[in-house]
Amino acid sequence: MKILVTGGAGFIGSHLVDALINNEHDVVVVDNLSTGTKENLNAKAKFIKLDITADQLAEVFAVEKPKVVFHLAAQIDVRKSVANPVWDAEQNIIGSINLLENCRKYEVQKVIFSSTGGAIYGETEKIPTTESEPTEPISPYGIGKLATEKYLNYYWQVFGLPFTILRYGNVYGPRQNSKGEAGVVAIFCDKLQAGVSPTINGDGKQTRDYVYVGDVVKANLAALENDQVAIFNIGTGVETDVNKLSALIKDAFGAEVEFNHGQAKTGEQQRSCLSFAKAKSELGWEPLVAIDSGIKNTVNWFRSLSL
Ligand SMILES: NC(=O)c1ccc[n+]([C@@H]2O[C@H](COP(=O)([O-])OP(=O)(O)OC[C@H]3O[C@@H](n4cnc5c(N)ncnc54)[C@H](O)[C@@H]3O)[C@@H](O)[C@H]2O)c1
Repeated sequence: MKILVTGGAGFIGSHLVDALINNEHDVVVVDNLSTGTKENLNAKAKFIKLDITADQLAEVFAVEKPKVVFHLAAQIDVRKSVANPVWDAEQNIIGSINLLENCRKYEVQKVIFSSTGGAIYGETEKIPTTESEPTEPISPYGIGKLATEKYLNYYWQVFGLPFTILRYGNVYGPRQNSKGEAGVVAIFCDKLQAGVSPTINGDGKQTRDYVYVGDVVKANLAALENDQVAIFNIGTGVETDVNKLSALIKDAFGAEVEFNHGQAKTGEQQRSCLSFAKAKSELGWEPLVAIDSGIKNTVNWFRSLSL
């Protein structure tokens, strides 16, 4: 099947492209390489360096005629979204509308969207959080994801363009970019690799739901096979605080370096943990990689970079 992956040179997108190619799909990647890299890209994918906000996106659809679109291209840095909400909205909201307009015009059969469970609910009463909890994002990044979800619903209701929304927890694994703010596992690994003490913001008791990238790819493949128009949380139902996470990473590295505690970040969400019950019953998906083995795989990959 002809499949377009936006953001296919990025962390999650490149793993997804590998899996789609293994499953013998014909994959086209659109990516502006702002955080993604050519090294991540599968050589069997057709690569088009383009911004999803560009008018030329229409030519890609006209020539390639994809049947399914996985939409992962986004600026993913919550702090950048706070510092520059206009720019964030241009990338994540306007870019997504430009993409969906083309999906509509060129009669794409399905869009599978990478949304966020970590940033879309805000601080919730219910942990693990289910999809029916209210969405109260407290960052422009989270608002942009919610807005795109609403546009997807609009294109479905009015034009019959089917979608699946996958709301991920904190995804980690090999190829995650350590340069931004988004991936705490990657940032800590990068520091330990360099022999530098990583800094934990605040007391380290803030929790997240860390889900391994291989499991996230499997959720995307399950969505491709599923005909429902629906929203699914993709997490583990396990809350891990930053202190425990840092201990796991330190152990996996066998590092002597200690972690520092710095200033707590103002407005930082305290808890996040997602229920995957709906994905399990309706998509047949569940996370298979426990955090300790996922962290070991990730640390091994970071280590291999310096060999
Ligand atoms: N990593 C996580 O924990 C996590 C959690 C929830 C949701 N997500 C979502 O999953 C998707 C992939 O995230 P990731 O962690 O792989 O990040 P990433 O930064 O590695 O991937 C994003 C990719 O999109 C590309 N890109 C960014 N803006 C673009 C634009 N305007 N036009 C074309 N390409 C553009 C980048 O170059 C990069 O290759 C994103 O939509 C992100 O919001 C990630």
